[in-house]
Amino acid sequence: MFKISKRSFTQKLVKTALGVAAFSTLTAFADEPFKIGLILPMTGQAASTGKQVEAGVRLYMAQNSGKIAGRNVELIVKDDTGLPDVTKRIAQEMVVNDKVDVLAGFGLTPLALATAPIATQSKTPLVVMAAATSSITLASPYIIRTSFALPQAAVTMGDWAAKNGIKKAVTLVSDYGPGIDAEKFFRERLLLNGGQIMEAMRVPLRNADFAPFLQKVRDLKPEALFVFVPSGQGTQVMKQFAERGLDKTGIKLIGTGDVTDDDLLNGIGDVSLGMVTSHHYSVTHKSAVNQKFVEAFEKANNKMRPNFMAVAGYDGTRVIYEALKATKGKAGGDALLAAMKGQIFESPRGPMFIDAQTRDVVHNMYIRKVEKINGEYFNTEFETIKDVKDPGKTQ
Ligand code: PHB
Repeated sequence: MFKISKRSFTQKLVKTALGVAAFSTLTAFADEPFKIGLILPMTGQAASTGKQVEAGVRLYMAQNSGKIAGRNVELIVKDDTGLPDVTKRIAQEMVVNDKVDVLAGFGLTPLALATAPIATQSKTPLVVMAAATSSITLASPYIIRTSFALPQAAVTMGDWAAKNGIKKAVTLVSDYGPGIDAEKFFRERLLLNGGQIMEAMRVPLRNADFAPFLQKVRDLKPEALFVFVPSGQGTQVMKQFAERGLDKTGIKLIGTGDVTDDDLLNGIGDVSLGMVTSHHYSVTHKSAVNQKFVEAFEKANNKMRPNFMAVAGYDGTRVIYEALKATKGKAGGDALLAAMKGQIFESPRGPMFIDAQTRDVVHNMYIRKVEKINGEYFNTEFETIKDVKDPGKTQ
């Protein structure tokens, strides 16, 4: 008789111990902050991207302060100076030492690709808020993207160019992932519509000098020059276009919206007028959500204009917050990742969806034209192509 009760006593003790342990894990994660490790180029050639993404992240956090499912959200920001080895080392430190729940940021494609294995090994969701080469999301099953995929913009521009009578074009792109995507997908669409690429030029990413390439464009006399350079380099290519007198030759300047970055347009000035580009965000996008976003962003950032990088930071933070709400505060890579997939909401860019299959963003593409309104330069949207998936994933 005593034996039995002794056994059940032990069982009870074990049960109680398990219960206490379970309870303390519950309270442990409720007490611990949820950590976002944001890695961005805050210095160097891509510093404007870092500044914009960080400001977007901080705005979302300021507008949604307080606890998420009982947990404080902590942001750790580190500058990778735009170098992949540095991004990777910081990510490793953030995962191992800081024990971040999510990695985010990634200002350039090589920085995202260098970090992908760390996300996979540690099962940490990695939210790409800037880089845009199509293949990035294939580098780890833990990657989610809230920026865009270059083929979305390039295909849209290729279709528009062909429909608008452009038969002979030259392409000029930065010589790395997103530039090669832009060149390939623009070319495919133009050819499909009976057009021709006279020459495909690739310019080094670092310390780019566009002058010799633009001289060649002048000699080739295409109907249009299609350009992709990453956010931050648009001023240089546009100014050199004007310096070489190409704006007087009748060669149409077209490209992806990275070139006529909202952030830079006022500094670029008249040479940008009339340039047609395709992209997913313009500061003048007409919606109540965007109007509120732009007002709040400019107020919080000393009148700095948000560009598409800021929006991706803002939306990426929303995806993280909503996932944490859905898991009721439980982090853990797989649960959080699952809650990020399939999110659908209205972004300042328009409707936006994280495709659960590809973990990539599906959103509208807009054809825009640079206009001067009350002394300021803007990308005015005049055509919408709805719910564009990355064409790079469907081939
Ligand atoms: C990239 O490196 O993937 C990248 C950076 C800036 C852009 C677009 C793509 O504007």
